[in-house]
Amino acid sequence: MIYAVIAVVLSYLLGSVSFSIVIARLVKGIDIREHGSGNAGATNTIRVLGKGPGLLCFVLDLGKGIAAVFIGRWLGLDEGVDWTPAICGLAAIMGHNWPIYFNFKGGKGIATTIGAIAALAFIPALIAGVVTIIVIAITRYVSLGSLIFAALTPVLISIFYYSAPVLTVSLILCVFAFVRHRSNIVKLLQGTENKLGAKKGS
Ligand code: G3P
Repeated sequence: MIYAVIAVVLSYLLGSVSFSIVIARLVKGIDIREHGSGNAGATNTIRVLGKGPGLLCFVLDLGKGIAAVFIGRWLGLDEGVDWTPAICGLAAIMGHNWPIYFNFKGGKGIATTIGAIAALAFIPALIAGVVTIIVIAITRYVSLGSLIFAALTPVLISIFYYSAPVLTVSLILCVFAFVRHRSNIVKLLQGTENKLGAKKGS
């Protein structure tokens, strides 16, 4: 049990490394949370700093989710605690959303969610990821794609019969995603949401 707890704490600490904040500070000496949409995430990094830093941020934030699940597998499963990898993925997203190093003001957790879900349930993540890319390509709304990914994954995980821990965590992550995207949802409904590639921050 102690190793499972260590794995969860390590995952939270890893998730708390908010790469958009780090990259924006290094590249431009700014706090990304004071620019664009104000979100500490890859989409806002693309908006404020450009594609290169934004995509780097996406890959690193996604990597945190994958790494956390693997930390859970290495430290948790030896003890037969089959919830550990999924809880570690959840902890990484909690770290990203509420980072201990940055006054608990982080991002919306989607890139890290994609990484964690991909490591826990690859086929559902792949299908949801393809749908998400198509939605973003057509609408240019990253937030809409993010919400569709979050909503689709529990459904697909149920269809493909993944374990209770994976399904439970995917449902919690779906709730997190919708709560963190409250302002995006309002703007989507009002038709004022920022589109990918648009100059002005939302
Ligand atoms: O993953 C975050 C994205 O869905 C929305 O980001 O900056 O447009 O609020 P943003």
